[in-house]
Amino acid sequence: MRSFAGRDILSLKDFERNEFFRVFEIAEKLEPLARDRRNSDLLRHKTLVTAFYQPSTRTRLAHEAAMIRLGGQVTGFADAKMTRAGDFYQESIKDTVKMLEFYGDVIVMRHFQQGAPHEAAKWASVPIINGGDGWGEHPTQILTDFYTVWREKGRLDGLKWLAVGDMRMRTMHSLAYGLTQFDCPITFVSPPDMSLSDEFKAEISQYSLDFREADHVEQAIADADVILVEPVVQPDYTKSRDERSGDVGMTPANYKITRELLQTKAKSDAILLHSLPRMDEIPADVDITRWSRYWQEAFNGVVMRMALIALVLGAME
Ligand code: CP
Repeated sequence: MRSFAGRDILSLKDFERNEFFRVFEIAEKLEPLARDRRNSDLLRHKTLVTAFYQPSTRTRLAHEAAMIRLGGQVTGFADAKMTRAGDFYQESIKDTVKMLEFYGDVIVMRHFQQGAPHEAAKWASVPIINGGDGWGEHPTQILTDFYTVWREKGRLDGLKWLAVGDMRMRTMHSLAYGLTQFDCPITFVSPPDMSLSDEFKAEISQYSLDFREADHVEQAIADADVILVEPVVQPDYTKSRDERSGDVGMTPANYKITRELLQTKAKSDAILLHSLPRMDEIPADVDITRWSRYWQEAFNGVVMRMALIALVLGAME
């Protein structure tokens, strides 16, 4: 297996099957620290830089919390407007990371331009972790989802997935790439104008992903072991910031997971994932049903980032 030390985490297209399991094993080892709310000194001499050109609650803070749990330091920015990249200069990715690489030992970047973290990785001498790039990918989120499934179900192979939402989403791309490494048939349900592009379908077909598309969650939910939901009412991910203006509309029933739907149609032991934030696609009364695992995902999001940071910094092998 390739070493993770010094490696960029840019895409799940790069991940081999045994590498997923290695990351899960490290996460499981580090999990007691997060569960017991303890900090260790594993990365006492290391610093994480967060470079966020787009808003985030979970991804940035989970990376920061992970670094703190491992005894490291954190610096960075949560709004590029307060840097030279977001003012008159519009400073380039190259010039920015040629600075940031001296401020820390690993950089996690979120950007509104697809491929920006890849551009950063070309220039930085320290590992770059992709925290979401435009419509591109969100590898650490899907690693968190896979880890959640692995912990809850004890396996990935043989589980049937249902993915609901906007298939242009970066999470959906990482999901499809990641599932190519497992025996996991998946059904995608999305509005027609948010469906998987023909180009992307051709690509995942080449990797032998067993997938189909359906119009309504009711057509696919009965078979699903894992239900992963994303909004269909959401901002434009190619903008640095997309404020809500006026009425944004409601989620049509085709793309909504209600308590009644789960009670009447879902498998009794299916699990429901959502990376969050949500709109109305999962109403709040689903939160306390036995299907929901998104709060568990929130916890696992810290654990997964602990594992990734420790691995790319060579503290765990
Ligand atoms: N799941 C996720 O990426 O959330 P944030 O946008 O809050 O980071």
